[in-house]
Amino acid sequence: MKEKKKGVIKGKRERYAQKNNSRNTRKTDKAPSKIKAQHAEAKRARRERKPAEFTSKSENSQYIQWFPGHMTRTKRKIQEDLKLVDAVAEIIDARVPLSSRNPDLPSMIGSKPRVILMNKCDLADPRITKQWTEYYKSKGIRAIELDCKTGAGIGNFTSAVKAVLADKIAVWESKGMVNRALRVMVVGIPNVGKSTFINRISKTSKAKTEDRPGVTRGNQWFTLSSGGVNIDLLDTPGVLWPRFDDQTVGERLAFTGAVKDDVTDTEQLALRLLEFFKERPTKALYERFSLTKDDMELPAHELLSLIAQKRGMLVSGGEPDTERAAVMILDEFRSAKLGRLTLETPDEVK
Ligand code: G4P
Repeated sequence: MKEKKKGVIKGKRERYAQKNNSRNTRKTDKAPSKIKAQHAEAKRARRERKPAEFTSKSENSQYIQWFPGHMTRTKRKIQEDLKLVDAVAEIIDARVPLSSRNPDLPSMIGSKPRVILMNKCDLADPRITKQWTEYYKSKGIRAIELDCKTGAGIGNFTSAVKAVLADKIAVWESKGMVNRALRVMVVGIPNVGKSTFINRISKTSKAKTEDRPGVTRGNQWFTLSSGGVNIDLLDTPGVLWPRFDDQTVGERLAFTGAVKDDVTDTEQLALRLLEFFKERPTKALYERFSLTKDDMELPAHELLSLIAQKRGMLVSGGEPDTERAAVMILDEFRSAKLGRLTLETPDEVK
């Protein structure tokens, strides 16, 4: 029987807890030997973590390792559930458009129409965001700029979905199916803002949450009505991880806070970020830490000490407290207090 629930949409933790619970209770959920082997390999690698292996760019580079144990299952689930939707909305972080996505997604979704939602545009360099939207346009992909915190750009979502489904809608209308709901699967790696997007669009449109156990167990749908268009949003079935084989991906996601600080060395991470800033200094960086052009020529570790001193962050004995300064720099970068910085440009696309 159909079970309808109105009201507040679940928070990220609840959603993930629910997904994990349902995974744990499924009879068929026994880890296949491949996954078990992956876990064993992961454990072994964790024990033998060697920072020096990933120092190709700088001595401050560090080893950031995640283990995407559920990836195979997620891929399978996405492919299964594609049958239920007309289009896919892929959310990415506009500061790291390359690192914040799983590059296998296009092959996973095949010919299904796709819209890219460049979220967190409020934190990204607007000039580079434009370069990205132009780049996507040149590839025939529709991308929209979003700031889900304030809702800026959210109004373009419906028209973007309608545009990528224009041919399908014309066919439906020719068969007399007018105002048929457009079904869209929302996908994205953790922390790009999927929950915030769903909450935001639900506030701006009439929304209700709905489990459709008869259709596919465990899937959560959000039914919206916006500007006379009905949209059924399907929340990501599982956790879609980013790509792990390139260390810069882990590092850039760590800069943005998508990788938890407890799996990274904060001071080394801040040093790497300062190296980035040395190449592309922002006005805000100069101003917030009263830095000069000469200061920016210092090696990253000296620059970090200088910033600690300038902010009066000292340990007993008067030495600069570089650990505290590192946390502050990362926090200020993540909240764009050091300027709106985008770490990846379209010419990096391989
Ligand atoms: P997820 O479901 O994809 O994992 O991401 P989620 O919505 O939980 O968002 C992750 C973090 O990103 C949240 O911050 C959220 O507020 C923030 N966020 C989402 N969209 C935007 C955006 O467009 N701009 C900015 N500046 N931030 C955004 P948090 O610190 O983890 O939680 P909260 O305390 O802000 O709720």
